[in-house]
Amino acid sequence: MNSLIKVELIGFGRMGRFYFEEMQKSGRWDIAYICDTNPKSRELAKKLSPNSRIIENEQVIFEDRSVQVVGLFALADSRKEQIEKAIQYGKHVISEKPIADTIVREWQAVHAAERSDMLTTVNLYLRNSWYHNMIKNYISKGEIGELAIIRICHLTPGLAPGEGHEYEGPSFHDCGMHYVDITRWYAGCEFKTWNAQAMRMWKYKDPWWLQCHGTFENGVVFDITQGHVYGQLSKDQTHNSYIDIIGTEGIARMTHDFKTAVVEIRGVSQTIKEERPFGGKNIDVLCNLFADSLESGKRHNSIPTLRDSAIASEYAWKFLENANGNDLPAIGEIQTLEKIWERRRTMKNGYGLIKQL
Ligand SMILES: NC(=O)c1ccc[n+]([C@@H]2O[C@H](COP(=O)([O-])OP(=O)(O)OC[C@H]3O[C@@H](n4cnc5c(N)ncnc54)[C@H](O)[C@@H]3O)[C@@H](O)[C@H]2O)c1
Repeated sequence: MNSLIKVELIGFGRMGRFYFEEMQKSGRWDIAYICDTNPKSRELAKKLSPNSRIIENEQVIFEDRSVQVVGLFALADSRKEQIEKAIQYGKHVISEKPIADTIVREWQAVHAAERSDMLTTVNLYLRNSWYHNMIKNYISKGEIGELAIIRICHLTPGLAPGEGHEYEGPSFHDCGMHYVDITRWYAGCEFKTWNAQAMRMWKYKDPWWLQCHGTFENGVVFDITQGHVYGQLSKDQTHNSYIDIIGTEGIARMTHDFKTAVVEIRGVSQTIKEERPFGGKNIDVLCNLFADSLESGKRHNSIPTLRDSAIASEYAWKFLENANGNDLPAIGEIQTLEKIWERRRTMKNGYGLIKQL
């Protein structure tokens, strides 16, 4: 008996290919269709997945009753309609974030999902990481006393402005919404106040670095720093990524180099230092939890909801809006950005490169 889960992937760019690789590796999925509007992506899909049907028009898949799950990995402008259509045709959904290109449309997608019985999730990948789960577990055991301050930082020479993902918004929305989300996940309640400062590096129209601090309804304080402005033209590139959590009695922190993550707990009864492989986007974890949920008929309680994604997205936009209302300096020249584009176009191994076909 064929017990594989029949799935189709829409969008075969950088993320679509990550899902393809992980689903193939796991042996739990039958990748029946791959859909992409770009002929070069379809050509690549044919080469990599000769047993899948490679198509340009997504409608074919929605109408195939045997497809159980759709994976939505194109860009934010097409996602809302795809989510609604998938639900209408009785299919479960794994979606990339953001789940649409405007807040109003994101909430429409949330409501469509919540009105249906279909299983839906979104790749808020930090929630599936071993390091954040480990830290949260120690916090819940009381090792740091009462949770008080959450500081998170993610600075890399990654996706440059104007390079792709225009529907996903500026860096603090496209990438920063993950940090907004994970901060809220730790606090366990909603944002109350915020104050943001941003920088329009290289005089680009949008800020590509933003720092926001504020409070949650339960009094927990946060600061988030995120930017893809971190030494794009340095001879040897690096990044700075950490979380630093302060309780009334102890602390917990994590840093990583994209290969290994290191968690350190300075708790009241234990001092722990644990190093394990970073885990990338944890797509294997998400796909396995999703497959487990489908097989058991019960949603795994840790898979992120579309609502979580809409909230994170909405606050990322609010923080950007707040920064726009404060002094928003512009430093650098557009010519520097042109040099960055040129360098990233020819780089083979860099941070968040848009895959060239
Ligand atoms: N969760 C994460 O950590 C994370 C990380 C990176 C990107 N993303 C999200 O994943 C999505 C894809 O990002 P990417 O880096 O793979 O982008 P990409 O540009 O590499 O790939 C997008 C692909 O979708 C195709 N496409 C566009 N519109 C389409 C449509 N209507 N139907 C079918 N195919 C279509 C394009 O031809 C392209 O092949 C983005 O929305 C991005 O925000 C999430």
